[in-house]
Amino acid sequence: MAKTDTTHTGSPIAEKKPGSSAEKSSSLKKFFVDSLKDIHYAEEAIIEALTKMQEAATTEELKDAFEDHQLQTKKHVSRLQKVFGLIGEKPEKKKCEAIEGIIKEGEEIIKSTKEGSMTRDAALIIAAQKVEHYEIASYGGLVQLAITLGHDKAAELLERTLEEEEDTDYNLTEIAETHINLDAEQED
Ligand SMILES: [Fe+2]
Ligand SMILES: [Fe+2]
Repeated sequence: MAKTDTTHTGSPIAEKKPGSSAEKSSSLKKFFVDSLKDIHYAEEAIIEALTKMQEAATTEELKDAFEDHQLQTKKHVSRLQKVFGLIGEKPEKKKCEAIEGIIKEGEEIIKSTKEGSMTRDAALIIAAQKVEHYEIASYGGLVQLAITLGHDKAAELLERTLEEEEDTDYNLTEIAETHINLDAEQED
């Protein structure tokens, strides 16, 4: 019998059971898991990039900020691994082209600014904030998806990381505005 009946009324919202096995193979669940793999890859790449950014930074203040966030980022990775466990998935990674591009841009900034200059720090802060904003967008979406899919504990963990990314973004703005940008403005 040909399936000519294309009715779209077959999936009433009322059937949605958060966390039930019914959603396990859904497209949204698959997208959620893929997005987790994406940010898992990104976090690992960020740990590496932060070492280079730390070495390249001019001021101790910014070096320290990068070091602190690197430690935090390592926690983000282990938190993600917990999230994979909570939803019964393997903690895999999927190449994230976006973060590769953002990190590459950061490397270009290091090449194109003078070592020991405040301009380098001003530029590195913006590069780091681009990383944070990618993470904020990703975790913001992941928290919402986790809630929708009924993974409350996972949502809680993702939310904690989201808050740390937001704090980092805020701290970087503070560092830039207190003196780095002004000092950079005085340079040739
Ligand atoms: Fe992170
Ligand atoms: Fe971050």
